[in-house]
Amino acid sequence: MLLLLTLVLSLMPLSEGNFASATAITMSNIARPGCLTQCGNLTVEYPFGIGKGCSLDESFDLTCNLTYKPPKLFIRSGNIEIYSISDSEMRIYNLVAYKCYNASGNVTDERDAWTNLETTPFTFSPKNKFTVIGCDDFALIGGATEAEFTSGCLGACSNANDVPSDGYCSGIGCCQTAIPKGLKFYQTTVLTVDNHTAVHSFNPCGLAFLGEEDSFQFGGARDLYNATEFYDRTIASVPVVVDWVIGGNSSCAQANTECKGNSFCSDADIGGYRCSCNKGYEGNPYLDPGCQDIDECSDKNNFPCYGNCDNTPGSYNCTCLPGNTGDARTADGCRPVAKNSKFPAMVFCLALVFGFVTMLSGITGICLGIRKRKLIKLREKFFEQNGGVFLKQKLKAPGASDNVTIFSTQQLRKATDNYSEERIVGRGGYGVVYKGILQDERVVAIKKSKLVDGTQAEQFINEVLILTQVIHRNVVKLLGFCLEEEVPILVYEFISNNTLFYHIHHGSGGVSSLSWENRLRVAAEAASALAYLHSQATMPIIHRDVKSANILLDENYTTKISDFGASRLVPLDHDQVTTLVQGTVGYLDPQYFHTSQLTDKSDVYSFGVVLAELITGQKPLSPDRINVEKILATHFLNSVKENRFLQIVEPRVLREATVEQLQAVRELTRRCLHLVGENRPTMKEVAMMLEGFRKFTTHPWVHQQTSESRSLILEVEQSDVYGVLQNHM
Ligand SMILES: *[C@@H]1O[C@H](CO)[C@@H](O)[C@H](O)[C@H]1NC(C)=O
Ligand SMILES: *[C@@H]1O[C@H](CO)[C@@H](O)[C@H](O)[C@H]1NC(C)=O
Ligand SMILES: *[C@@H]1O[C@H](CO)[C@@H](O)[C@H](O)[C@H]1NC(C)=O
Ligand SMILES: *[C@@H]1O[C@H](CO)[C@@H](O)[C@H](O)[C@H]1NC(C)=O
Ligand SMILES: *[C@@H]1O[C@H](CO)[C@@H](O)[C@H](O)[C@H]1NC(C)=O
Ligand SMILES: *[C@@H]1O[C@H](CO)[C@@H](O)[C@H](O)[C@H]1NC(C)=O
Ligand SMILES: *[C@@H]1O[C@H](CO)[C@@H](O)[C@H](O)[C@H]1NC(C)=O
Ligand SMILES: *[C@@H]1O[C@H](CO)[C@@H](O)[C@H](O)[C@H]1NC(C)=O
Repeated sequence: MLLLLTLVLSLMPLSEGNFASATAITMSNIARPGCLTQCGNLTVEYPFGIGKGCSLDESFDLTCNLTYKPPKLFIRSGNIEIYSISDSEMRIYNLVAYKCYNASGNVTDERDAWTNLETTPFTFSPKNKFTVIGCDDFALIGGATEAEFTSGCLGACSNANDVPSDGYCSGIGCCQTAIPKGLKFYQTTVLTVDNHTAVHSFNPCGLAFLGEEDSFQFGGARDLYNATEFYDRTIASVPVVVDWVIGGNSSCAQANTECKGNSFCSDADIGGYRCSCNKGYEGNPYLDPGCQDIDECSDKNNFPCYGNCDNTPGSYNCTCLPGNTGDARTADGCRPVAKNSKFPAMVFCLALVFGFVTMLSGITGICLGIRKRKLIKLREKFFEQNGGVFLKQKLKAPGASDNVTIFSTQQLRKATDNYSEERIVGRGGYGVVYKGILQDERVVAIKKSKLVDGTQAEQFINEVLILTQVIHRNVVKLLGFCLEEEVPILVYEFISNNTLFYHIHHGSGGVSSLSWENRLRVAAEAASALAYLHSQATMPIIHRDVKSANILLDENYTTKISDFGASRLVPLDHDQVTTLVQGTVGYLDPQYFHTSQLTDKSDVYSFGVVLAELITGQKPLSPDRINVEKILATHFLNSVKENRFLQIVEPRVLREATVEQLQAVRELTRRCLHLVGENRPTMKEVAMMLEGFRKFTTHPWVHQQTSESRSLILEVEQSDVYGVLQNHM
């Protein structure tokens, strides 16, 4: 079977400047003059400061206590010890609560833990997990966010041999749960179910702590047996991640921002904002004179150049030695200029590339005269080659949208600053998306494919044809195209607010900024757009690459489905078509994968994965989950089957969704992910149901005492002895 798995379009955000990763910071630029920058081996950079007048304001004051050898760094004058500081996070030392018992069940030693950041501008990051270690222990963590929050975890096991020691906290003898965004205070106490008498021989103590999930490795039976060793190791190696922002509750727009030269301001979703250096600059963005240009030419390791190197502000110019042409940034990127060429190097390259396409398309013989052709001829040829004539005819056909413009090469080059690197807003397997500004000041997204082979051109034509037929407020609008380049170029309306994938998985601090209400609305809108495509009167359209990265959001968070490169028009008399399997791993319908039979139910399956992402906040494929559960669809279905659904729901969703909504969306997602296509609902059904769920009354389930909420809570408690306990103070 021929498989073509294409990993396609994901409009990734521009990478943000990151001053902590910058290496060669001039020492004068990291702190105010005369201020201490080292405490032990920790470096303290402005806005933090040690001593009077050294920090941005008193909330960034730190104390370096030299009595300790090596010296220790503390927040303000308190006792919260700092582990490390970076440009958006700070790590502090952990506090581990525990309770130990003797063989007859009397408590021999105990400690509670609490940390209070309420007088600071810092919050506990969702990168932390609340973890309980023990075979007969549970612990509650309580704290204050906007809403009171209490959660808990139960560690259970009956035999030391049951406990895996592969580093993962699998639920046996170890339990982990998430904390909400914005938490500033927590306290925890360890409690026992049965006073440890049954497990004392291999587990005399129970422990609980809040700490960075990625730093923690569970040592299995050994950790259960030797609490002292576990305690010391955890304190030393598992810090608590704390997010920091400046500006308290103001934003970039309101604040007279502190961001200095060559830097930009970005709002943090926990309130406040941060400054970061522009691309190509490094240094401290909070201190005059701001970020400094990176001299790329003197850093051959990070910025290789095999020709002449010229440093320019924010960038560098690396060109081949005289007499050569090509990309001097790769070791063998430069080639001698062909001696008898009458054309500029650029045109020569285009001709070569063009020759390649025509060969692959089975049209031979055109190569011969190509060097003699004028540039105009070349463009006309590309136009034809790319199906321009065919398209022009199609667009003239009755019913076709007449708002589609055919752009010239010059127009688009001008709009994108000659395809400047700085205009790139997305990259993927298909090619590159640029932000362009047309002469009439309209902002557009310009999609230029990488030249792979002739089928790519076909996909573009396909996309044009589909999009010219589709007019829906939740489908990205095609404004026009250009066929005069070696690859066809599509011009869309610019969708400014990134992808749904980004909003679910890359929100600041790792937690999504999307409310449950918005998630349901986006899901309903996307479903209605897909239902519309599936129900097209003349030719139903199957998207074939439904995923959160292809669902864009505009400035009003309105949903726009994009990337129809892989889509297929399905003639009405065929309800299924055999195709090369195409799609994205993690979203791909297993039935389609096995049979190559494409139906509209494949889109329903992929949409089910998007729903699971919206509920759990987890990625469709994650190495953090073990074995088959790496695949979100499997993880989701197993969790529902084993009655531990609530454990995988993102905490924010748990707080904001109603019981009825959670139950309903869980059921709908389960149906969409059914292995047999016929048993899945149609997209139209999905859209109507989601629209209906939005109308359910909006009381977070934790505040309800209906029979449903009790049955959900019961479900958690029955789920297993190591289920999450969740109640409210
Ligand atoms: C900082 O100092 C501590 C204690 O001396 C040491 O364990 C650690 O490796 C040092 N870290 C760095 C980055 O040098
Ligand atoms: C430094 O730590 C020692 C020991 O805990 C304490 O007695 C002293 O007051 C601290 N010094 C400062 C300046 O906080
Ligand atoms: C446990 O501690 C209690 C109180 O300290 C004591 O009376 C009892 O004998 C101890 N049991 C064992 C087995 O040491
Ligand atoms: C511990 O539990 C056992 C069995 O439930 C009971 O017999 C014993 O008295 C308890 N010990 C303490 C110290 O509570
Ligand atoms: C601990 O041991 C003592 C006997 O020394 C007993 O009176 C007490 O009830 C035991 N239980 C607890 C929970 O302290
Ligand atoms: C626990 O580990 C520590 C350090 O490795 C060791 O000193 C101690 O003897 C161990 N305790 C037990 C009960 O094995
Ligand atoms: C933050 O908001 C509170 C009230 O909502 C206000 O009193 C305070 O001044 C604000 N702080 C800043 C730094 O804007
Ligand atoms: C890069 O260098 C080339 C040749 O020296 C020059 O023609 C070109 O304008 C330079 N580009 C920039 C951005 O400075």
